Amino acid sequence: MSAVLQNNTPAEAEGREPWEKYRAAAGGLDEYWYPVMTAAELRQKKRATVELVGRKLVLLADGAKFRALLDACPHRQVPLSLGKVEFPGTITCMYHGWTFNLESGRMVAALTDGPDSPINGKVGVRTYPVEERIGLVFVWMGEGKPVPVEDDVPTELFREDARVYPFVRTVGGNWRHATENGFDESHVKMLHRYAAWVTFRNVSAWNETSIDKSDDGVWLERVQRNVHLFDDYPGLGSWPKKRFWKPEPNKGVTTGGKDHAVGVRLPCILRVRQPGKADWTHYEWYVPINKDSYIYLVLAVTWRSSPWKRFMFWMRYWTYILWVHHYGFNNQDLGVVAKTPEGAPVRLFRPDISIIEWRRHLEQNARPVNRSGNNKGAGA
Ligand code: FES
Ligand SMILES: [Fe+2]
Repeated sequence: MSAVLQNNTPAEAEGREPWEKYRAAAGGLDEYWYPVMTAAELRQKKRATVELVGRKLVLLADGAKFRALLDACPHRQVPLSLGKVEFPGTITCMYHGWTFNLESGRMVAALTDGPDSPINGKVGVRTYPVEERIGLVFVWMGEGKPVPVEDDVPTELFREDARVYPFVRTVGGNWRHATENGFDESHVKMLHRYAAWVTFRNVSAWNETSIDKSDDGVWLERVQRNVHLFDDYPGLGSWPKKRFWKPEPNKGVTTGGKDHAVGVRLPCILRVRQPGKADWTHYEWYVPINKDSYIYLVLAVTWRSSPWKRFMFWMRYWTYILWVHHYGFNNQDLGVVAKTPEGAPVRLFRPDISIIEWRRHLEQNARPVNRSGNNKGAGA
């Protein structure tokens, strides 16, 4: 184990305000690309609204392109998402007919004030860069120049043989608690102990864990050094209880390794490699809507070139993984994240090294938090 943590963090012990960037990002980190829905859904609906990092947006399918605009008309702040497409490539506000170009956001007409309306061309609505990748709609929320979308998506998802199964939900809770829950070392052993997903697996009592960084510095990975399947708790007895249907371990301690490594990366992405022959990887994005809710976007991804193997995974996903993992198992996480109070005092314990290292990683590596853009009104 790489460190033994005290009840508070080193910065707290020194009386410094810890995790400044982390705290400032309660409503989300601005300077990132976020996936918000599937491209298929937006193409089919043509129009959708989403709140992202505290800003309400309207998303539109404009021919083959996707567009994102602040969902507020600069005239009286009525949502543009209620408007009409009177002319291709534009949206017209439903109230007084101010009309905006979807790509630039510039006003092209104030229909109810005639073609020579003096305000025409003098106002605009903010637009946000949108890109489609791996079947998802990504929106850039930053004030700065967008980085390539590829910088904010795990590289392996772009492989030709990747098959990506997305599942998107809007849920309550803070995105940072959700990210920390994903990377949290010890909750699996308590919260998920009786989940159907682990019925026939041993869930250990506790693990000795270290946090490694990937060679490219992008991922933090939780690696099990020693796995204590059972242990004796003085005055209480052995825990967990042995169950005849669980595989019987040879001994109480085994070595873990990277086989089932859990990784986390900025801005809010979790990766869980499934063990052994399972041959797929689970991803989660906790996309910040605001400080009280987030988009919970889950991917099951497999890399198979054989059509037969792809079909077998398709079957397994729809008959098993979606229900038992993405609903059953993950609903336990969603429930507890929604009940984790925001900003309340905490006392940490040894397994929380995973959380400490994640916060440290965010502090040191997240692109600068730019709150000035939040809740910015429409206008030129
Ligand atoms: S509120 Fe949009 S045109 Fe008046
Ligand atoms: Fe969990």
